[in-house]
Amino acid sequence: DAFEDKFHHLALRHERAWVFISVAMIAVLFIVTVYFVVHDYGLVAKTVQFYSNPDTPATLADFQGSGIKQTGPNSYNIYEMGRAWSWTPGTATPITLPAGSHVKFYVTSGDVLHGFEVQGTSINITAIPGVVGHVSYTFDKPGTYYIICNEYCGAGHQAMIGKIVITG
Ligand code: CUA
Repeated sequence: DAFEDKFHHLALRHERAWVFISVAMIAVLFIVTVYFVVHDYGLVAKTVQFYSNPDTPATLADFQGSGIKQTGPNSYNIYEMGRAWSWTPGTATPITLPAGSHVKFYVTSGDVLHGFEVQGTSINITAIPGVVGHVSYTFDKPGTYYIICNEYCGAGHQAMIGKIVITG
């Protein structure tokens, strides 16, 4: 009858409203999560370059010397070589850069797989013999950032530490 029809319409309207509200809440949560992940950790794009001879990257000129090259007023390349069990440059030669530096990391390994990670950032790339991995990051916040190895590589795995100091 008429009353039942009216009731059904009303119920349908409320159902639609609640479906819309729950979808909207999920969307808002998703957007907020993505915003804070990007805001706190930064987004990084990873690319890799392969060499037919796995020994080649270790012989490249960029991986000799300090491992740091200024490429612009506020841009730097950092060349990181992982070996059991150290990063070069590592803690013995901390990398000091001004806040706002755009850094492109070039990461490789001279022996086995290592995991190049800069704590407190989204920089996380596997160091592979015969492969140079690239990852870019802008250091906006001053502070000390530690490089670690996050891929188990043997007895001295936990000793693979490096240091990036961002000055204010
Ligand atoms: Cu290198 Cu773990």
